[in-house]
Amino acid sequence: NLVQTDWVQEIKRLKKERNAVILAHYYQTPEIQDIADFIGDSLDLSRKAAETDADVIVFCGVRFMAEVAKILSPEKTVLVPDMEAGCSLEDSCPPEELAAFRKAHPDHIALTYINCSAEVKALSDIIVTSSSAEKILSQIPESQPIIFAPDRNLGAWLNRKTGRDMLLWPGSCIVHENFSETELLKLKQLHPNAPIAAHPECPAAILDHADVVGSTRAILEFALKSDSDTIIVATEPHIIHQMEKSAPHKTFIGAPGMDGNCNCNMCPYMALNTMEKLYLALKNKAPEVTLDEKTRLAAKKPLDKMLEMAA
Ligand code: 13P
Ligand code: SF4
Repeated sequence: NLVQTDWVQEIKRLKKERNAVILAHYYQTPEIQDIADFIGDSLDLSRKAAETDADVIVFCGVRFMAEVAKILSPEKTVLVPDMEAGCSLEDSCPPEELAAFRKAHPDHIALTYINCSAEVKALSDIIVTSSSAEKILSQIPESQPIIFAPDRNLGAWLNRKTGRDMLLWPGSCIVHENFSETELLKLKQLHPNAPIAAHPECPAAILDHADVVGSTRAILEFALKSDSDTIIVATEPHIIHQMEKSAPHKTFIGAPGMDGNCNCNMCPYMALNTMEKLYLALKNKAPEVTLDEKTRLAAKKPLDKMLEMAA
């Protein structure tokens, strides 16, 4: 059993030995964020995975993110600290159900949020992330009927912002669904000048109070740029680590959940990844993400479209 400092040293040693790169999402623990070579939102991480020249990618995020890395960089070994790190949005949209829904709406194209399985991507026309969805939508003719899956909150927010009438799949993120409007308003009373930055996976009742709505990177950039010295953050609270690192003089408050504090808004899937599992993944070259080539190629098409349309 190694102590914390030894994990860091061992991970750095193995990373060199394996010519590996560590990519991490903002929802990972501070220790994992600090040892990562690159941290970003889903779009940034996809781009990074597509262009890295490392032999091994260790993806510290959830499984669908690591799958994207494998889809875009099939010649690389893609490792994850914990293969069980799923996502409630992915769970809400089984491929056979989406296939049946598409069949029932043959005139609709499928615009699909990146938070889904490779099999669901393979059934989709274009993938979007929260940072690229609006730009991509603006390139699709108004008259084109669209199915948007699996996040109904992001879909509803896009419908409201763009005046579209996309058909929404009834999925949601268990973390962002848990924010409480009542508790948020109480917090706002205590900090009337603090702007609220929210992720579009939040329900409309939360987004209605937000000063800015955007991806994790957009929320981070807003928090750092804001003139206010206190900012309320309505997304998974581990992102606050990056805010505190870059602006230690400011106060960042995680938006409260139903129990009145922000600890219940931690993503239980992201939390499965630990420094020990990251070390073991590099040491054992496992667990490794694998995909059958037919699914990979079919999933790559709508992902390539996203990268092209978001450029
Ligand atoms: P971002 O693309 O904003 O990083 O979102 C990923 C995610 O899973 C949010 O819950
Ligand atoms: Fe999925 Fe929500 Fe966790 Fe993001 S925060 S990975 S959407 S469960």
